[in-house]
Amino acid sequence: MSLADTLPTIELFSELSKKELKNIAALMTPIQVKMGRVLTKEGDPGREFMIIIEGTATVKRKGRVLARLGPGDFFGELAIVAGVPRTATVIADTDMVIETLNRREFTSLLDESPRIAKKVLVGAVRRLHEIEESIIR
Ligand code: CMP
Repeated sequence: MSLADTLPTIELFSELSKKELKNIAALMTPIQVKMGRVLTKEGDPGREFMIIIEGTATVKRKGRVLARLGPGDFFGELAIVAGVPRTATVIADTDMVIETLNRREFTSLLDESPRIAKKVLVGAVRRLHEIEESIIR
């Protein structure tokens, strides 16, 4: 499947016009990763925002599983948005295809659409809430 076919199926990009999708596709670089690859490492500086096209990944923090992510899910936004270290380790459970955006491309993505910015913001707040709950419990 081409990027043009895949993008509209990603929840983050639903409700966007063809033109917006085209602009967004130009920002992205698809890469293939092997099962077991560490995609973000807790405590490291972060340079990329990633969207899963194929495959699944596990999110772990302090050795505990926080979430499993699959096609259409995104991750890596927290370190990029706030300039803080990676909050969690994300590991590929399977061979995967992911789209990566560097900080500049991610900023352009947020500028492109307030809808996307809102979804990323809501997701970020939920994730931080879950992290906080896992600390308190
Ligand atoms: P970042 O901190 O840049 O790198 C690790 C990523 O894991 C983080 O961004 C989020 O995208 C993701 N993440 C952190 N906490 C959660 C959570 N509770 N549920 C799902 N994903 C998370």
